[in-house]
Formats: sequence, structure tokens, C-alpha cells
Amino acid sequence: MTVSAVRQDPRTGERGSPLAGRVALVTGGARGIGAAISRQLAGQGAAIAAGYRRGRDGALALAGEVESNGGVCTVHQGHVGSAYDCERVVGEVLDQHGRLDILVNNAGITVDKPVLKMSPQDWNEVVSVNLSGAFYLSKPALEHMVDRGSGRILNISSIIGQIGNVGQANYAAAKSGLFGLTMTMAREAAHALGKAGKLDDRGPGLTVNAIAPGFIDTEMVADVPERVLDRVKQQIPLRRLGQPEEVARVVAFLCEDASAYVTGQVWAINGGMEM
Ligand SMILES: NC(=O)c1ccc[n+]([C@@H]2O[C@H](COP(=O)([O-])OP(=O)(O)OC[C@H]3O[C@@H](n4cnc5c(N)ncnc54)[C@H](OP(=O)(O)O)[C@@H]3O)[C@@H](O)[C@H]2O)c1
Repeated sequence: MTVSAVRQDPRTGERGSPLAGRVALVTGGARGIGAAISRQLAGQGAAIAAGYRRGRDGALALAGEVESNGGVCTVHQGHVGSAYDCERVVGEVLDQHGRLDILVNNAGITVDKPVLKMSPQDWNEVVSVNLSGAFYLSKPALEHMVDRGSGRILNISSIIGQIGNVGQANYAAAKSGLFGLTMTMAREAAHALGKAGKLDDRGPGLTVNAIAPGFIDTEMVADVPERVLDRVKQQIPLRRLGQPEEVARVVAFLCEDASAYVTGQVWAINGGMEM
């Protein structure tokens, strides 16, 4: 089997641009974990399409940064809880870049309340952004990837989807839901490639995986009171929050052609909090 495109200098061990020529759509790609993913994939040679909802200035700043480092980055406004917006954004990316190789379903929100105080609106808002959004975007992306015979879909779930959390029933349910969506799309992607006679052992393949970060140092946890974070850290064997870059590097690894045999899995990055 030949595995292409992981170019490594045999003397220095430095890696080249394993994602050169690839196009990656990263939702919520200009802030927090998403921005780290955009930077990491751009650093490996991918052209970035960064999604945003409200943060236009941040998205334009990220695009400027990527471009000043010699990369390519377009920005795409849209609400991932809207099926219409999701289909439009994938269409925009295909129009502007001509292809879509990597979809990172990263956009996410929290509306934390105990179940007894949670309204149907609180429930629906979180489920629509964190779970339905991944479905709305994956559908047109998968169609294109099946046609081309290759691709990567990464769903950013959470440790909360694995262990639950007081006050986060909506978020935990949505993030657990991503595991089922991931496994099913992984099976369907492989089946569709097989049916089209494109399931060979030489190319990058079409894989779907989930990432389950633990507590990561971003704006999402900025509102958590210090004393609560201290208690959280006591439950983490490594006794600290993770950094967005520590999540991004796993995403980049899974995007490489050489990761073609990894599909339908949940990748935990949590300092040992869940094992
Ligand atoms: N931080 C953690 O501890 C942690 C742990 C586990 C999993 N995660 C997951 O990792 C992902 C990123 O989290 P983060 O910590 O980086 O969060 P963050 O800093 O709060 O950023 C959230 C991102 O999602 C985008 N977004 C929110 N609602 C959207 C919508 N309706 N449509 C389109 N984009 C939307 C935001 O875009 P705008 O800025 O344009 O609004 C922003 O870029 C989320 O899925 C989160 O659940 C985070």
C-alpha cells in the first residue's frame, strides 16, 4: 500500500505540507478551538474556509493572518442551526474553492440550566447548533466527498457527551448525539464508496471521526467561576485545562492521507479526565 502526502524531511524530521491542495471548512473557525484548527490546517497547507456567525471582525482578522503567512482563507457567515444557511455555505465554499476535502463541525454553544429549569427553547437552541448543524453541513459535504471518492469529516463533540454534567442536559445530549451521527456517517461513507467502486486501499479514503475535548481554555469556559474551575482541575489527572492547539493537532493528524484507516472513532483529548 502506498500512503501519499506525508512529506517528512528524513534528516530534520520536519514535515512538509501534507494538506497542500486541500480545502477545509471549519465552522466557528475564527475563535477558540476553531481558530486553532484553522491555523493548524493552514500551516499544513490547506486552504481554509472559516465559518462564523456574529464574529465578522474576528473572521476577517484570521483570514488576514493566514494570508500574511502565505496561506489562503475565505470567510463564510451563517447560522449552523439553519439547514438553509448550511447548504448555502457549502455551496459558497465549492464555488469559491472548487472542492471541499475537510469539514470540521466545530461551532457550538451552551445554555446551561438544570433540567427542571430548562425551557424547550433552551433545549432546541443547543441541540440545533451542536447536533443538527453537523447534520445540515455534513449532508451536502458528504455528497460532494462521495462523488470525489475522498474526504474528512470531524465532529467536535465533548467529554460532556461521554460523562454528562449537571446543568448541561441539552449540551450533553447534543454532544452524545454526535457520536451516533459520526459512527453512522462513517459506515455510510464507506458503503457509498464501496458501491461506487471507489473503496481502494491507496487513496486518502473518506473518513468520519469525532473529537471529544475535555475542558479547554477558550471563551466558552471563561464564564465558569474560578472556584468551579479549580474543582474541575482536581478531577483532571494532569491538573490543568487543555489548550486549543492540543485539540487542533489531533484534528490535523486525522486529516492526513495516512490516517485513512481511522474512521468512526471518538478521539478524547482531556488530560485523562475520562478513561
Ligand atoms: N472549550 C471547551 O472546554 C470545550 C470542551 C469540549 C468541547 N468543546 C466544543 O468545541 C467547539 C468550540 O468551542 P470553543 O470553546 O472554541 O467555543 P467558543 O470560543 O465559544 O467559540 C464558539 C464558536 O462557535 C461559533 N458559533 C456559535 N454559534 C454558532 C452558530 N449558530 N452558527 C455558526 N457558528 C456559531 C462562534 O462563532 P461567532 O464567534 O461568529 O459567533 C465561535 O466561533 C464547540 O463545539 C464546543 O462545544 C469546547
